[in-house]
Amino acid sequence: MVKPLLSMEHVEISLERDGKLRPIVHDVTFQLYPGEIVTLTGASGCGKSLTAHAIVGLLEHGCRVTNGHIFYRKENVLNYDEKGWQTLRREEIALLIQHSLNGLDPIRTVKKQMIETLNQKKKLPRKEVKDILYSLLHEVGFDDPGHILSSYPFELSGGMRQRVLLAMMISLNPKLLIADEPTTALDALNREKVLTLLKKLQRDFGLTVLLISHDHESVNKCADRIIQMDQGGIVPACYLNYEM
Ligand SMILES: Nc1ncnc2c1ncn2[C@@H]1O[C@H](COP(=O)(O)OP(=O)(O)OP(=O)(O)O)[C@@H](O)[C@H]1O
Ligand SMILES: [Mg+2]
Repeated sequence: MVKPLLSMEHVEISLERDGKLRPIVHDVTFQLYPGEIVTLTGASGCGKSLTAHAIVGLLEHGCRVTNGHIFYRKENVLNYDEKGWQTLRREEIALLIQHSLNGLDPIRTVKKQMIETLNQKKKLPRKEVKDILYSLLHEVGFDDPGHILSSYPFELSGGMRQRVLLAMMISLNPKLLIADEPTTALDALNREKVLTLLKKLQRDFGLTVLLISHDHESVNKCADRIIQMDQGGIVPACYLNYEM
């Protein structure tokens, strides 16, 4: 039997206010299996982003998991210290955060920012770095990587920036990619490109993808499976298996 890569079990996330903990995400339970693309969908404010942040240990100060378990492979990641979380984010799970399009530094070239991400893993010789950057940018659909590398983010369209961000994510060679609303800020053409790319990355790298989106178009096109969330947690009746 195939074992899940990620298993969320009755996860509750609470926010501390005036010394009191108030649960804001209740009872989230789902599994992700290796190599699948799963969409996590649900109304705005139901806790999708908080869930994503909890998985990689990036909940904001005052916010924490107050119940349940998050197993990545066999380990309950909630037992990790900061070093453990950092290793998880560097080696295993990449999170493309919501509104990440604004996350690229506007005054530094794409090349500088991509090298910085790549170096998180291991310092590589210059020539090797250049080859890797070219191949990553090819992988995400750029015909002229040299031009992209020397560009500043503001010179690129939203769709191009999203693809650069995806290239940065895959440079870490993650097993699981969590993409939080990667298409929301894009027009229809770029949305299509990014979704096709996610499919390609799944195929080329055996990547498992958790795609957070309330965009039903992407859900239907891209997902092997859809998980529906609401304020109370996961909606069991909507825990569907789609054969595409
Ligand atoms: N740092 C915070 N402080 C206070 N409340 C927060 C914080 N982060 C999230 N919340 C609240 O928690 C709930 C869940 O937020 P979250 O961002 O996870 O929703 P979401 O499902 O990702 O929504 P969207 O689809 O709009 O991105 C919301 O009601 C939000 O207002
Ligand atoms: Mg969100």
